Amino acid sequence: MPIPDPVHYPPFNITRAGHVRVTVRDLDAARDFYTSVYGLIVSDEADGALYLRGVEEVCHHSLVLTAAGDGPLCERIGLRVQTEEELDKAHDWFCGEGLGPAWVEQPWQGRTLHVTDPCGVPLELCASMTAVPRLGSAVDRHRGGVALRFDHFQILVPDAQAACDFYTRLGFRVSDYVETPDGALVAAFMYRKDIPWDLVFFAAKGPRMHHFAYITPNAVDMFRACDIAGIRGYGEAVERGPGRHSMGHVQYVYFRDPDGHRSELVLDAPHHMTDLENEPVQWTPASIGEKAWGLPAQRAWFLEASRFPGVEPVETSVARGALTLEDYLSARTVVA
Ligand SMILES: [Fe+2]
Repeated sequence: MPIPDPVHYPPFNITRAGHVRVTVRDLDAARDFYTSVYGLIVSDEADGALYLRGVEEVCHHSLVLTAAGDGPLCERIGLRVQTEEELDKAHDWFCGEGLGPAWVEQPWQGRTLHVTDPCGVPLELCASMTAVPRLGSAVDRHRGGVALRFDHFQILVPDAQAACDFYTRLGFRVSDYVETPDGALVAAFMYRKDIPWDLVFFAAKGPRMHHFAYITPNAVDMFRACDIAGIRGYGEAVERGPGRHSMGHVQYVYFRDPDGHRSELVLDAPHHMTDLENEPVQWTPASIGEKAWGLPAQRAWFLEASRFPGVEPVETSVARGALTLEDYLSARTVVA
């Protein structure tokens, strides 16, 4: 059993995955993609950065796009903590772990803490942002996939067990996990909010950010996002799906933005996770596709991801054993 016991009273209270910072080469192209296909709202633009949010969000931003000429990177994984007091506790705890946290100033955020986790993932923690109007009922401003709110990250790490162990210490619980027949951890789906995922770790060359996800209201909005992508010249950016995940039985579609950052539109969470009867569910690389439908993901979906600044990815020793679209098609016999 590779899943550690949950920690119900962690050293400080992380509440959820909250925002992401990525660099882009062309801010206008990225703005067009995220506002037209995802339907994100522009909260502000300043100093070469664009601050966007989902239509349901009252926090100032959940996606920060920064113009940079040195290639697309994922600058920070954003986590929210409950209060300023919890932020101070986080600072002290990270100091005790020897992780060297640093206070920084970020526009439209309260006090902000930067730290790099033991896997090499750069984190940004804050307890508050400037409040902005919730636009969930402003349907005249809804576009594309009507992205409601930021939901989760998938992060590739060479050692998924180490990531799972570390974030368990911070109070994250495991909803689902994938284990090889010889007991190596392939993936851990971990959460703090009341649904099955905030941080998903897969064993792969890393650390790298595989994707971030927004909730879309329903399948019609999801297909509209795909239609808008096609109309505006992003047809090939629809990388995988629409399809249905085995875990949670939710529908999804993955896009690549103009800089190659991957993101997902996914329907809302299938069930609540607060109660302790929600034990981690075990999967195998073979069973992870049960009840799903459609073709396997293309090889790029498994191999390509956004790098973090100054962090050289390391290969994993854990074999995921995933079937790629290329392998599936090459092995298929066609009788004409
Ligand atoms: Fe996802």
